[in-house]
Amino acid sequence: MTLAAPRIDVFRIPTRIMFGRGVSERVAEPLAQVAAKRVLIVTDPGVVKAGLVAPIEQRIREAGIAHEIYDGVVPDPVVADVERCFERARDMRADALVAIGGGSSIDTAKMAAVLMTNGGTVLDYVGIDKVPRPAAPVVAIPTTAGTGAEITINSVIADPEQHKKLVIISPNATALFALEDPDMTRGLPPFLTAITGMDTLVHAVESYVNKNTYPMTRSLAIEAIRDAGWALPRAVKDGSDLEARERMMRAVVSASLAFSNTRLGNVHAMALPLGGWCHVAHGTAVAVLLPHVMEFNRTAAPDRFAEVGEALGVGKDPQAAVRRTHALLEETGIPTRLSECGVTDDKIGAMAKDAMQSGNIAVNPRATTLADIEALYRAAL
Ligand SMILES: [Fe+2]
Repeated sequence: MTLAAPRIDVFRIPTRIMFGRGVSERVAEPLAQVAAKRVLIVTDPGVVKAGLVAPIEQRIREAGIAHEIYDGVVPDPVVADVERCFERARDMRADALVAIGGGSSIDTAKMAAVLMTNGGTVLDYVGIDKVPRPAAPVVAIPTTAGTGAEITINSVIADPEQHKKLVIISPNATALFALEDPDMTRGLPPFLTAITGMDTLVHAVESYVNKNTYPMTRSLAIEAIRDAGWALPRAVKDGSDLEARERMMRAVVSASLAFSNTRLGNVHAMALPLGGWCHVAHGTAVAVLLPHVMEFNRTAAPDRFAEVGEALGVGKDPQAAVRRTHALLEETGIPTRLSECGVTDDKIGAMAKDAMQSGNIAVNPRATTLADIEALYRAAL
């Protein structure tokens, strides 16, 4: 008799996380830990205008660290945008980066930091575990509670020529430090709060039910579902509700630790082509798709979906869990149909083919064909 090889669970946490109100003002501590002498602050003009950069810059100045600000980050950065940030860091001979912003700023900084120590171009590192050397130190300070880019080993960079979003997955392409400061999200407008928060909820749900899940990741994911399910509608309704802001940020940390170690599922496989072909914002794409993919998956993992329902406060019932996610879209002002986001039927064929290339399809709880993906896009249209 031959026995199956024992399953090995691998849990990777390359990022050191500090969590709490006001923690962003302690930026000099992680910079001292890596003996940073010259720092490039990577951000976008909106974050500067919101006054979120000045207090952090002040702390860096007080610590006597030479620094410059690069505020050229754009939404959905492309390969050339990363190169531009990298060149700025190289020209000032930066030895560390401080990223302040949403997923676009943090991913730009993560990949510029990869180029600082590995050379080459972003295209050399697309895929899983293709980055040989650890990136230069990045201190990531998120201003949204959503993508988890400050913790995850994933970065997403757009390639407009191929209508593709390139995914780089490597424990060498992460931020070394994440400063999770709920105060930094206080001014985030309701719609951005809603779509970034839904991204976190989707990360948690997909991680909880997928084929790679194991007890350690499940305990994190279910906690994230509980926190986000409670806090998201409250943070959208009243941005100054600090308990809601704090629990949303806790949800980001738990969900990111979980999904960095399990990958995701059909929602994320289908969301990337919606960005590449139809320019739908990531958070909007995953939010609209979630109830449809849950409906498709729920019979493949009924017990898990029942637990999702319980964590969302609607009882141990898979169908109630699906209904609750749909209601959350309406409560938080997110479109419920892809056609409201500029998506047209003629793009579905190309998007479905791209979605099938994603490694997230293989870990989805229910086996999925090209025809299934096309049907799911149509159901959400
Ligand atoms: Fe996501």
